[in-house]
Amino acid sequence: MELKLAFIGFGTVGQGLAEILLESKEELAQKYNFHYKVVAISDKLKGAIYHPEGINLKQALDLAKSKKSLEEYDGAKEYGWDSLKTITDTNANVIIEVSWTDIKTGEPALTHVKTAIENGKHVVMTNKGPVAIAAQELMTLASKHNVEIRFEGTVLSGTPALNLGLRNLAGSRITEIYGIVNGTTNYILTEMENGLSYQEALKKAQELGYAEADPTGDVEGWDAVGKVVILANVLMGASITKDNVEREGITKITPEDIKQAQQEGKRWKLIARLRKTDDDRIIASVRPEKIPLSDPLANIMGPTNALTFRTKYLGDVTIIGPGAGRLATGFALLTDLLDINRILMLKQK
Ligand code: HSE
Repeated sequence: MELKLAFIGFGTVGQGLAEILLESKEELAQKYNFHYKVVAISDKLKGAIYHPEGINLKQALDLAKSKKSLEEYDGAKEYGWDSLKTITDTNANVIIEVSWTDIKTGEPALTHVKTAIENGKHVVMTNKGPVAIAAQELMTLASKHNVEIRFEGTVLSGTPALNLGLRNLAGSRITEIYGIVNGTTNYILTEMENGLSYQEALKKAQELGYAEADPTGDVEGWDAVGKVVILANVLMGASITKDNVEREGITKITPEDIKQAQQEGKRWKLIARLRKTDDDRIIASVRPEKIPLSDPLANIMGPTNALTFRTKYLGDVTIIGPGAGRLATGFALLTDLLDINRILMLKQK
């Protein structure tokens, strides 16, 4: 069995996955019986290529890395197909949705994902928009069309937050989930403590590739709100929207606030919180909290993320790891692809 992959979007995250796929090709085949070819890439800015027998991923990656158009690729069968035509008219059976994120409308990714599912194609994605807006709807649609949909990278990138909650903690009765789910703001707060101004720290976070294309989404807390909605709806059986999450970003925190907290033996963190009440309501918030230094969350620095799952039967389980970055997020897509491959192999038996 061989998966035929199409990339919708070929920015940082898509390129990260491409790098891993190229580097690990043999290991993936030998260890996990994972065989693939990339048949198409369609990117709004970089252009599009398609070949039903497979494209040369290395050549495409080199073009993208050197900021050249995919139209310069040598040997494609078709050039310039847009995202929807690539989803519907190529022979790809797995769509890798890595176009840009719009947390408010989910578009254009939401349409990409629905179209893929309705055309009988499996989907892996790291795009928070569609999942925050329509996780249940997309999962139901996928099951109706007998395809798989995975989105591990939408929360904590490749650090296994959703898979942990869905698989290993299944049956544990999660009552609370809380932690640091946005790398950009944690990085800014860390650098402000090291003496940088807010603007300098934000600029560095953008240069390092942690921030969203529009960093307002990070610093005003919208990115974290999207992740809170995904965690609630996917892991806690809720059906909340961004409007049910109390939200405050980090833009009002001044260097004086940071110093003041230090003097109190505390540290400001942007904390995402979800709690299930006794009558099964979900209380959700994203806001800066002054955390005592004795709390492990206070010591999560830089772009690192952390999440604690409070469960009835297992107590607290905390994971700490990358929440953003080219390879960390590319890896999330790889875990999704391996998972789909495993399921398809089982179905073949
Ligand atoms: N902008 C996000 C962050 C990227 O800073 O955490 C990962 O979702």
